[in-house]
Amino acid sequence: MSRQSIASVAAILGILSLAACSKSQPPAPASGSAGDTVAATQAPAAAANAAVDDAQAKEMFKARCAPCHGEQGRGDGPASAALNPKPRNYHDKTWQSKVTDDDIKKTITYGGAAVGKSPIMPSSPDLESKPEVIDGLVHLVRAFGKS
Ligand code: HEC
Repeated sequence: MSRQSIASVAAILGILSLAACSKSQPPAPASGSAGDTVAATQAPAAAANAAVDDAQAKEMFKARCAPCHGEQGRGDGPASAALNPKPRNYHDKTWQSKVTDDDIKKTITYGGAAVGKSPIMPSSPDLESKPEVIDGLVHLVRAFGKS
């Protein structure tokens, strides 16, 4: 990975976080519970769990992860072409069987470098205070691995 491509990834991320700021601020639910929204957007098989914000995680995935990992989590998002190594394809069953939920959470929060992977995988320190969204992202990553 050259300095230049790290710079262009940084530029992409800059654009992403701007987009994330303008788009991914959902109105606070009046009831204080995310249960209704979660139930409305989840697959019927998955149990609604108010402690996991799947709805916000989905929005966040689109804004913050899909540009690299792809909408379907195949590691083929528009920004992935310039990257080496390529973003993880979540459909990789061997990887799914080895990685723990804790590994995934750590990767998401602290970035690839924190788990001995590429620093191209960015950290999201703002999620440290939103464990319900991180859990939702883990759900999404695991769901991709089942299809
Ligand atoms: C700038 C592009 C980029 C963005 C944005 C990005 N990732 Fe990644 N991600 C990567 C790359 C590249 C790797 C592969 C790192 C490696 O194999 O060394 C990776 C790896 C991963 C892994 C697998 C780590 C492992 O154990 O192998 C997970 C899980 C992951 N990303 C989740 C996410 C989530 C969730 C988001 C959004 C919050 C996200 N990524 C945003 C580029 C990105």
